[in-house]
Amino acid sequence: VILNSPNNPTGAVVDPEELTRLLDWCDGRGVWLIYDETYDRFLYDGRLHASAAARLLAGERVVVTGAASKTYAMTGWRLGWALGPPALIRAMASYQSHTTSNASSISQAAALKALTALDSAAASVADMLAHYESRRHVIVEGLRAIRGVRCGMPEGAFYAFADVSELYGRKGVTGSAAFCDRLLSEAHVAAVPGDAFGDDACARFSFATDPARITEAVRRIAAWAVA
Ligand SMILES: Cc1ncc(COP(=O)(O)O)c(C=O)c1O
Repeated sequence: VILNSPNNPTGAVVDPEELTRLLDWCDGRGVWLIYDETYDRFLYDGRLHASAAARLLAGERVVVTGAASKTYAMTGWRLGWALGPPALIRAMASYQSHTTSNASSISQAAALKALTALDSAAASVADMLAHYESRRHVIVEGLRAIRGVRCGMPEGAFYAFADVSELYGRKGVTGSAAFCDRLLSEAHVAAVPGDAFGDDACARFSFATDPARITEAVRRIAAWAVA
């Protein structure tokens, strides 16, 4: 089972009881859980992250993955990690060293600093989260105000995954890829087609950018939707 919480693209968050049920289900059947906790610091409304690390330490078939990309704004530095049973991690390291070789020493040094300078990293994460919290409202409320767009409030991560399918007929497109193509070429707003995530009714909008850009993007989408 592969699970990602907080989730890209929906922003959904698995609560602790649900995670326990999932882990019990996997444990009872000898199934591995690969749990991607990359967005573990990006939670809103006081939600807490449910980690599978304790069950991994208890010897269960669990792999926890994470990355420096989001928490430490290190997208492009190509540095992530996996925690798992030693024998599995050894096999993963052997495989990786013959395929992608290694993460660059520069990225490793930067990530080491981020992961060990706990106080300054925590302060910058808290500051970033406060900004994302207000941007989340700007984008979701902006999208909801557009007729034909429906959007849930993300509980975590930094994406709004909106159902835009009511606009397909109006814009003469048949799916999310064509929708995002047209939105990019005509309104100059970039979104990721939902079909890449298994839901062709939706498009993913990132709010990891400054509020003025978000406001402008929403204005353009709204104008384009009725053009
Ligand atoms: C669910 C999830 N896991 C991991 C990552 C980290 O990817 P990378 O470290 O390659 O930037 C991302 C980035 O988009 C993600 O959305």
